[in-house]
Amino acid sequence: MVHTDAWWRDAVIYQVYPRSFADSDGDGMGDLPGITGRLHHLKELGIDAVWLSPFYPSPQHDAGYDVADYRGVDPRFGALGDADKLIAEAHGLGIKVIVDLVPNHTSNEHEWFRAALAAGPGSPERERYIFRSGDQPPNSWKSVFGGSAWERLPDGDWYLHLFDVSQPDLNWDNPEVRAEFLDVLRFWLDRGVDGFRVDVAHGLVKEANLTDWTTASTILGGLDPAGPPPPMWDQEGVHEIYRSWRKVLDEYPGGRILVAEAWVAPASRLARYVRPDEMHQAFNFPYLDAPWKPAELRAVIDETLAANNEVGATTTWVLSNHDVVRHASRLGFPAGTPRMPGIGAEDPQPDSALGLRRARAATLLMLGLPGSAYLYQGEELGLPEHTTMPDEFREDPAWERSGHAERGRDGCRVPLPWEADAPSYGFGPADASWLPQPATWAEYALDRQQGVPGSTWELYRSALELRREHGLGSGSVVWQDGGFAFRNGDVLVLTNFGPDAVALPAGARVLLSSEPLDGDGRVPTDVTVWAAL
Ligand code: NOJ
Repeated sequence: MVHTDAWWRDAVIYQVYPRSFADSDGDGMGDLPGITGRLHHLKELGIDAVWLSPFYPSPQHDAGYDVADYRGVDPRFGALGDADKLIAEAHGLGIKVIVDLVPNHTSNEHEWFRAALAAGPGSPERERYIFRSGDQPPNSWKSVFGGSAWERLPDGDWYLHLFDVSQPDLNWDNPEVRAEFLDVLRFWLDRGVDGFRVDVAHGLVKEANLTDWTTASTILGGLDPAGPPPPMWDQEGVHEIYRSWRKVLDEYPGGRILVAEAWVAPASRLARYVRPDEMHQAFNFPYLDAPWKPAELRAVIDETLAANNEVGATTTWVLSNHDVVRHASRLGFPAGTPRMPGIGAEDPQPDSALGLRRARAATLLMLGLPGSAYLYQGEELGLPEHTTMPDEFREDPAWERSGHAERGRDGCRVPLPWEADAPSYGFGPADASWLPQPATWAEYALDRQQGVPGSTWELYRSALELRREHGLGSGSVVWQDGGFAFRNGDVLVLTNFGPDAVALPAGARVLLSSEPLDGDGRVPTDVTVWAAL
């Protein structure tokens, strides 16, 4: 595959969640050699790049988003040499590799935090984090995972943690912190990575006075576009950091990229992260959050395309990731159901057939849009959320910190099924699996779907092939009159949200359809069709 330096503008990027992709040694936890061993499947699927969630040394209090050493590999996942092999193997297959960078906070086991604890109040070591003294918490900020965002030490100092108590926030006013991350970028760029997904990209800089903020810090639920900017998110100062990072990336050949995980609204505000001298991409969470309703989807598509055009960036699209209920389950609830922080056995359950039908239609709609698309491992198998996981298995810190009010994100993180009849459905050589796999996993296994016409795997594979063939990623959206349909180059993308089947325009030749058309060649409800005009 030949990539230009702007490969990312129309790339399909597949998120690998290392804990749950493939386990090479049978300990029940996925690992880097496991990923390397299965890269050829991703080649077959037809993606352009993988993004790997964190695999660095970490006590795993937030599944690796609590990093203890930014320049290593956790022994659970392998060794540094395994990362090198993975990168080399992926590149050999024409697949780019993006790694996760977590700059908002470290683990409390990072050597800097240990030094800060040991050095005591007022020390330069504490200046790398956000410590304050006093009898009361310095302000009313809440942790995203529930409870106060401040933790008190026995010596009386408080430290800020916008996430888990084991994830102290770094102080980005400290030049030492800035220098350290420039060096971490170079460390991985020198090893050949093609870019970084930047965790909590809108959170690094806090408002100088740490002004009170009583509203819950629900970054994973989106921000109120109408309200004032919260003092911990989307502060002006973050942009100068990304400009300095961009300069480093631009020193390297081949188009190395930065992608922002920034829960910022409205779209025009998010587009500021992808101005020409900052990041390359930002996740389009308003699209992920949009209900299965034509007017809302069309509005989000138009708004995000326009906002990104304004700054000369392409738009990204995403439906699932490791933080949200998988779209094959989300779409099995009535359209417009508010975002759920996880689903448990006692909660209302989705209609799984409807969810999968709509998920396939939603994916085909997404892949028909110009720009770059992000896929989350398992969606190409039509995997649903594990919605009945026994609570005793839950590891997401949000479960405990919310006082069991939020079930959390474990349900979308269950290890993948590769082979229907193998132990752990082929996730690893043994039965072990760090989260239990539902008994229904066999029917989703890759080996049950490969070469099977109409399977979700074959739908994704065909879609990616046609997307490339017709240049959909670098095309444009031209809305058509009546119904939900747009033209992208020579392809008509039509989704039927209505109760009755709809006819295609005369002369349209069907290229791909998320479900079979009816006997009269019409598009049934909750189906997307790509047709050549
Ligand atoms: C966003 C990540 O995607 C999520 O998994 C993590 O818990 C938080 N950032 C904190 O790092």
